[in-house]
Amino acid sequence: MKQVIHRKLSRNNLRLSLIFLLTFSTSLFAQKGDAVVGKSLFNANCIACHKLDKKMTGPALRKVESRLADAEGLDREWLYNWIKNSSGVIKSGDAYANKIYSEFNGVAMSAFPTLTNADIDNILAYTATEPTVVTPPPGDPTAQAANTSSEGGISNKIILGALGVLFALLAGALFLVNKTLRRFADAKGVSLAETSSRTPIWKAFVQNQFLVFITAIGLLLASAYFVYGFLMQVGVNQGYEPIQPIHYSHRIHAGDNGIDCKYCHSSARVSKHSGIPSLNVCMNCHKSIYEVAPETQAEGLAEFGVDYNGEIKKLYNAVGWDDADQKYTGETSPVKWIQIHKLPDFAYFNHSQHVVVGGVECQTCHGPVEEMEIMYQHAPLTMGWCINCHRETNVKVKDNVYYTKIHEQLSKKYGVENLTAAQMGGLECGKCHY
Ligand code: HEC
Ligand code: HEC
Ligand code: HEC
Ligand code: HEC
Ligand code: HEC
Ligand code: HEC
Repeated sequence: MKQVIHRKLSRNNLRLSLIFLLTFSTSLFAQKGDAVVGKSLFNANCIACHKLDKKMTGPALRKVESRLADAEGLDREWLYNWIKNSSGVIKSGDAYANKIYSEFNGVAMSAFPTLTNADIDNILAYTATEPTVVTPPPGDPTAQAANTSSEGGISNKIILGALGVLFALLAGALFLVNKTLRRFADAKGVSLAETSSRTPIWKAFVQNQFLVFITAIGLLLASAYFVYGFLMQVGVNQGYEPIQPIHYSHRIHAGDNGIDCKYCHSSARVSKHSGIPSLNVCMNCHKSIYEVAPETQAEGLAEFGVDYNGEIKKLYNAVGWDDADQKYTGETSPVKWIQIHKLPDFAYFNHSQHVVVGGVECQTCHGPVEEMEIMYQHAPLTMGWCINCHRETNVKVKDNVYYTKIHEQLSKKYGVENLTAAQMGGLECGKCHY
């Protein structure tokens, strides 16, 4: 027994080391260099101008070494020289160097004299890797959605079925109990009053005036409650989540990529309004981000049924950006974002007063924005909401240049160390109403 196991183990070991050797040696001979290290070198030095699979400021670099070797007979030595000092190679009169230079309209590539040959080996190993296969989206997104909902349907059906069986069992049990009791009664000679001769429940109910009275009052109260609730709801848009012309995810931008809110909503700092960024702000990044990472794309399709890359295309159409030629076409079609947060005109609200002066975080009023795939209104924005916060929030007066003086006076007046927004005048009608 022991021996068998032992033999099995050693055979597995042998197979493992064979596989290990094989992979190790192929990577050793075919690539010469570490693609992982190469990737970070590439991202640090080259990505501003080069992509692997797409022409940018410079040519696409996937398999550049074998491409240049096959087409132009250039070797790695040539690449070392080119990458370290491309203009030197051009000046030396090298035919291919001059050809590609004029093909790219005389845009000079930066020189990288500090990269060693080993560094360049690593970068070339990275450019020699096969493209990552975009995991095919699991079916049509709408079919996916239908799938999940029918899954929900199935589990609902299971629950319903189980309940049905339970009821059937209960009914059966009651029937049996009833039957046995009747048999006992028969045996004992007790005669049972027939149920049909009893007054029906509804007749008994109508005859009992007190019950009718109570029920009427109950109904009246309930409907008043619902009407009141409905009226209070008018004009309150908490949870409002419209579908925007471009699916823009705060989760991806502000969350995953940690982009500061004020990078896009820059006017929150200086003005009453926070504002939606112009599409030029988007293009600061999206000139080079023409598609999302394959994982992001797959996640979007699977979880939200959104084709993120298609949404970036919409952005390009809106600003008139021709990504293939890397230039603006001049044909724009502005995006009309649907406004979500809106106070009535008679109420005054100022962002910079809260964000800069009051030191209130965006999230206190707008909720966990960095987790929102789709933006929605988090707070009710009612007068009660404003007032409550003014009553409860201590103004951050410490080290706040706006308040050194007024704080001294007011804290003396109220005889307290901390001041709420309310104590500073935050409940006066005129502060919020014109
Ligand atoms: C400032 C932009 C810029 C940067 C940064 C840059 N390149 Fe280039 N690269 C170019 C341009 C432009 C060309 C086309 C030739 C020319 O115009 O000089 C080019 C050409 C090349 C070529 C020749 C490709 C071919 O198909 O003929 C290689 C190889 C290359 N670059 C590698 C690199 C590597 C590796 C890095 C990073 C260490 C890098 N480049 C960084 C702009 C850049
Ligand atoms: C990369 C740009 C960008 C960043 C960063 C960003 N936003 Fe936005 N924000 C937008 C765009 C575009 C819209 C309009 C589309 C929408 O509503 O989703 C928007 C809408 C909003 C709205 C709703 C506006 C309305 O119509 O009422 C709020 C609130 C908001 N953002 C808050 C934030 C907060 C808080 C952060 C930081 C956690 C943040 N945003 C980061 C671009 C950005
Ligand atoms: C500071 C850089 C930056 C800015 C500014 C920026 N984005 Fe993005 N955007 C990104 C990054 C990073 C990704 C995600 C890439 C990934 O996951 O592979 C992305 C992804 C996207 C996507 C696909 C995911 C999604 O959110 O649906 C869209 C669409 C998009 N951006 C639109 C916009 C719009 C519209 C604006 C302007 C309001 C904008 N972006 C501004 C960096 C930026
Ligand atoms: C004290 C609560 C509060 C804070 C803090 C706050 N907001 Fe707002 N935000 C509001 C209210 C209320 C509105 C609706 C304003 C209106 O309709 O006049 C709004 C509207 C917006 C809008 C829609 C456009 C506009 O200006 O009407 C954006 C975008 C926005 N906020 C972003 C932000 C960002 C980014 C921050 C953080 C820098 C932030 N908000 C901090 C309460 C707040
Ligand atoms: C999350 C808490 C919070 C909410 C919600 C909030 N505020 Fe404020 N508000 C503050 C703080 C803190 C200050 C103190 C900053 C200051 O005095 O300038 C302030 C100050 C003000 C002031 C200036 C008061 C003064 O003494 O000059 C006005 C006006 C105001 N808020 C309006 C509103 C309105 C309108 C709303 C609702 C739409 C609102 N606030 C919701 C926290 C809040
Ligand atoms: C901190 C800011 C703030 C203060 C102070 C304030 N209000 Fe308001 N008020 C609002 C906001 C915001 C709305 C809009 C609420 C909505 O749309 O539901 C509002 C709405 C109203 C309305 C319309 C009815 C309603 O509920 O929609 C009346 C009337 C009103 N306020 C009267 C007053 C009076 C009187 C005072 C002084 C005692 C006062 N407000 C003080 C912010 C304030």
